[in-house]
Amino acid sequence: MALIEAVNLGIDFTVGPPWARRRLRALQEVSMTIEPGEIIGVVGESGSGKSTFGNLCIGRTRPTMGQLLYRGRPLIDVPRRERAGRFAAVLQHPKWSLNPMLKVQTSVAEPLRIAGSAGTAAELRQKVGAMLELVGLPGSFQDRHPHELSGGQRQRVSIARALITQPEFVLFDEAVSALDVSVQAQILNLIKDLQAKVGFSAIFISHDLAATRYVASRIAVLYAGRMVEDARSEVFYGLAAHPYARGLQFASGLIDDESMELRLGQIDLDAKGCPLAERCPIALPQCRNKVPLMQDTDRHRVSCHAAETKSA
Ligand SMILES: Nc1ncnc2c1ncn2[C@@H]1O[C@H](COP(=O)(O)OP(=O)(O)OP(=O)(O)O)[C@@H](O)[C@H]1O
Ligand SMILES: [Mg+2]
Repeated sequence: MALIEAVNLGIDFTVGPPWARRRLRALQEVSMTIEPGEIIGVVGESGSGKSTFGNLCIGRTRPTMGQLLYRGRPLIDVPRRERAGRFAAVLQHPKWSLNPMLKVQTSVAEPLRIAGSAGTAAELRQKVGAMLELVGLPGSFQDRHPHELSGGQRQRVSIARALITQPEFVLFDEAVSALDVSVQAQILNLIKDLQAKVGFSAIFISHDLAATRYVASRIAVLYAGRMVEDARSEVFYGLAAHPYARGLQFASGLIDDESMELRLGQIDLDAKGCPLAERCPIALPQCRNKVPLMQDTDRHRVSCHAAETKSA
């Protein structure tokens, strides 16, 4: 059984001032499974729904459409205490997850307390020390405050905090984006090493297709709240199937096929047809009228009328 399964998952937010409330469909009809031990890279432009999807996957938000299943049961039915031990997140700015007033030990140990498994003070000190060593920091750093650490060290502390309960699933949301390039590489290596050692599944969200390639075994591409492609990493980076995915690859210099350059345009969350149609270099007439369905080919899952035509 899959560790995580999204079934037609979606969420509407209510946005705008009280006198002009409107619905914003931030994610819709996303279906995918995540197996134990997989790291899924989630890519897409700003506003495409990456964080929304990640937050639904760890039960931080409740879907308004479809379901998010954890080992076959709706994640929202899993009690908070159990979820706290099994799900964790590492966010972009360690500032947000590490309280500057608290010692590293207190922050790293917090998930244990929520999960009800903190133990005695001596046990806690031993656990936190061992965890800090696992992420490449001296155990004595537990007595420091966040301002006494570098950005990279703070992100290592955030990772220690996320992994202290030995979670089954970890959300990394732009976890390396705020770091210097050389530090990014160290943290990416750390995430890979820890995954191999400890064996969690993860979603790794990033704008950076090269970073994603480095850690993820599978790539999911979001556009306008829809999943447009899902493929194993080597297939995706060999040749992505969806024109949006190729556009992203062109924009990040991974391919040099100029014909794949995306036109500028707003992300249209309420499009009647394919949300990419106005920007797509290979759009067909039907793309403006009908949302393409996710198709399984032997190498990709992809939702694109043009890709369908090619494989037909
Ligand atoms: N809590 C919320 N309330 C209202 N709207 C939201 C909320 N969270 C996200 N949104 C909206 O949902 C859409 C998707 O947002 P999301 O944060 O998931 O995008 P993203 O792909 O993570 O973008 P970024 O790369 O900028 O982090 C955006 O239009 C955003 O404004
Ligand atoms: Mg985000």
